[in-house]
Amino acid sequence: MKRLGILISGRGSNFLAIADAIAAGKLDAHIAVVISNRPDAPGLELARKRGLDAAALPSQGLDREVYDRQMIAELRGREVDLVCLAGYMRILSGHFIREFPGRILNIHPSLLPAFPGLDAQHQALAHGVKFSGCTVHFVDEGVDSGPIVKQAVVPVLDGDDAETLAERILKEEHRIYTESIALVLSGRYKIEGRRVLAANERE
Ligand code: GRF
Repeated sequence: MKRLGILISGRGSNFLAIADAIAAGKLDAHIAVVISNRPDAPGLELARKRGLDAAALPSQGLDREVYDRQMIAELRGREVDLVCLAGYMRILSGHFIREFPGRILNIHPSLLPAFPGLDAQHQALAHGVKFSGCTVHFVDEGVDSGPIVKQAVVPVLDGDDAETLAERILKEEHRIYTESIALVLSGRYKIEGRRVLAANERE
């Protein structure tokens, strides 16, 4: 069974959605480890409660590449096949990305390439878009810039603030992250330029 390494920094609701999908038999994978760069991340406690291997690897004050080498060792030690960033608030070094070529996914709460970086929901409201959503993408050396695996659209309502919009987007995040992981683990896709194309079932 394919082994996931999930990196978090906070709440961990995307991690939980992945764990729930596995428990419900909707995703054929094993969570080999959940690692947080913040020792106080609530998601770590949730992972421990589920009996998962949950590790804190504090990043504060460490040089990016030094830290990433430690992280690589943790992931390699658990023979991780796919790295899933789930609210992981650190930019990865090129070194890390080259260690797991085409094997790192991220979830971002906007329809990329709109509103990359921090506070995507605030950015969407400030720009006045009528629709926003979320994106699962492969991670490359840019910020929120790799090939897109899946997106979901949600309406922005007149009464929204960043919190209500984030909540509506989060529901879709949980769905498309699990679906994207299943697709990538199945290997039934190809990447042409920036396009991730799911294989036709009949091919
Ligand atoms: C999500 O909105 C995700 O898209 C973004 O950070 C948030 C993490 O939420 N990258 P959670 O920790 O998975 O609940």
